[in-house]
Amino acid sequence: MGQRQFSPVPIARRVRLTDEMSEKQTFHLELDLSQTDIIYSVGDCLAVLPENDPHFVHKVLQFFSEPSTTSVTTREGETLAAIEFLTARANLTLTPKKLVERFGPANYLTELLPRLEGKISLMEFCSYLAPITPRFYSIASSMSAVGKMAHLTVTLNRNPPDHPLTLGTCSDYLCHRAVEGQSLIAVAHHPARQFGLHPLSYQKPIIMIGPGTGVAPFRGFMQERLAQGACSKNWLFFGERTSKGHYYYREEWELYAQKGHLQLDLAFSRDESSKVYVQDKMREKAASLWQWLHHEEGYLFVCGDAQNMAKAVDQTLHLITQEQGNMSCEQAKEYIKILKKQNRYLRDIY
Ligand SMILES: Cc1cc2nc3c(=O)[nH]c(=O)nc-3n(C[C@H](O)[C@H](O)[C@H](O)COP(=O)(O)OP(=O)(O)OC[C@H]3O[C@@H](n4cnc5c(N)ncnc54)[C@H](O)[C@@H]3O)c2cc1C
Ligand SMILES: NC(=O)c1ccc[n+]([C@@H]2O[C@H](COP(=O)([O-])OP(=O)(O)OC[C@H]3O[C@@H](n4cnc5c(N)ncnc54)[C@H](OP(=O)(O)O)[C@@H]3O)[C@@H](O)[C@H]2O)c1
Repeated sequence: MGQRQFSPVPIARRVRLTDEMSEKQTFHLELDLSQTDIIYSVGDCLAVLPENDPHFVHKVLQFFSEPSTTSVTTREGETLAAIEFLTARANLTLTPKKLVERFGPANYLTELLPRLEGKISLMEFCSYLAPITPRFYSIASSMSAVGKMAHLTVTLNRNPPDHPLTLGTCSDYLCHRAVEGQSLIAVAHHPARQFGLHPLSYQKPIIMIGPGTGVAPFRGFMQERLAQGACSKNWLFFGERTSKGHYYYREEWELYAQKGHLQLDLAFSRDESSKVYVQDKMREKAASLWQWLHHEEGYLFVCGDAQNMAKAVDQTLHLITQEQGNMSCEQAKEYIKILKKQNRYLRDIY
């Protein structure tokens, strides 16, 4: 975990953003940072150290005849009860190489456990486990608007059917297992290297492309732009499954739009018979987008899914540059390279 300092913080408020009928569960969380020295900028993330699912921890412990309070020593030399170590320190999603070498191949730890019974002690087993890893979440607020709080937008991760854990460790912890107002979540500040509101951008238009949880940092951007009295225009492309069930922060975006602070383009992929994505909306508004980006020297931000969305948005940006800027494919590539160098095309994708 390197030099990162984790602080325990309570969840002051947690609200479900997706409709109760939707299988997708996305939550808005408000973490109280008042007992920490964290000072963040918009675009930054919080690193969260999750706790493992207690049912899964018990499943592991039942293969050992020793009590759950058996002392184990961490790699840093700290002594803890096995149950505490397995809950808060151990990575239970990785299958340790040394155990595989000794007991044969396994996709998941659960496949190995029956083979270990009676062969190694609980302490030895724990010594093979890698440390639990932090997960990152974009901060969905600005300190200028919310003070010593950090808001997050977290989607519950569902694992593939063959996985022994049905839900993602950290998202399940943040969305369900951690208790609002009671549990203390270990968080650390994870500053963004480039992704944020550069001082030069205050007088320039910004274009924000954030489908799904990718919208999170842009809520912070809007709070910051308004708090700072930034005098230029803001444009958000948001996309999700349905307008009824998955329109995160609807009231806030619509209020900004009504007051003339925000241009809003929405792509609800499952409202119509054919899919509509944020890049389709970009194509529809190509001339205007080019006006903001090229003629008015705007800044373009993309956040969210790296696998498919960010690639498609990047291709669309190249196409718009070619068409609107009358450029060849090579010229468009060069143009976008320069945009990146000038920090005017910034992405936070995962
Ligand atoms: C910069 C950044 C910003 C982010 N911002 C947000 C945000 O604002 N909101 C948000 O919701 N998410 C965000 N994420 C994603 C987030 O960090 C987590 O990755 C996400 O919540 C899933 O974590 P988890 O612990 O719930 O799932 P995990 O338990 O880590 O599982 C994740 C995946 O790994 C697979 N897996 C787990 N164990 C195994 C195994 N043993 N073998 C093979 N595969 C396995 C699972 O099937 C699953 O698909 C961000 C990520 C980054 C990098
Ligand atoms: N394992 C899980 O349980 C799980 C669940 C959700 C997300 N994720 C992952 O978590 C990350 C963020 O997810 P998220 O919930 O914020 O949003 P997301 O899954 O990326 O979905 C948000 C919107 O993006 C649309 N989309 C799908 N493919 C796209 C593409 N090629 N181009 C543009 N838009 C596209 C989706 O449409 P459609 O879905 O209608 O196609 C949906 O409307 C992603 O990496 C995603 O893969 C994992």
